[in-house]
Amino acid sequence: MALHKNVYTFEEVSKHNKTEDCWVIISGKVYDLTSFIEDHPGGAEVILAATGKDGTSDYDAAGHSDYAIEMMEKYFIGKIDTTNVPQTRKYTPPEQDQYSASMSTEFVIKFLQYLFPILMLGLAFAVRYYTRKE
Ligand code: HEM
Repeated sequence: MALHKNVYTFEEVSKHNKTEDCWVIISGKVYDLTSFIEDHPGGAEVILAATGKDGTSDYDAAGHSDYAIEMMEKYFIGKIDTTNVPQTRKYTPPEQDQYSASMSTEFVIKFLQYLFPILMLGLAFAVRYYTRKE
């Protein structure tokens, strides 16, 4: 395995992002999982989702057994040229405005929940006060 000397660019590896042609990058190494993807116990989807980026964190997050780690050697085809590998696919942050809007709605509801009983109590006292001296 250590005999493999291929060094691939990220651009080259990320072209192989289909079930019929699937390469992933894990810990700086490139694996051709085309023949394995359909048999992967974790499913083909997760592997496809790990293509086109550095798949290391996805792979690590899944937690693989020693058996899985041994298996990987079979699919090792070379190393990655680490100069331009994105850590993740492009990340689009959630819309901040929407978030803070829903936060403030929540806050108003909470506030009213406390305020309402106090207002009712005040109203009850007021009614009592004004209707007492007849
Ligand atoms: C050379 C690459 C890979 C090999 C040889 C491999 C092999 C395996 C094996 C044998 C299992 C069964 C459980 C175990 O023995 O650990 C497994 C489970 C799993 N793998 Fe992979 N895997 C590879 C890459 C990936 C990648 C890139 C992901 C991306 C997320 C992934 C996600 C998972 C998940 C989520 C499971 C858990 C399935 C479950 O417990 O239901 N694997 N893998």
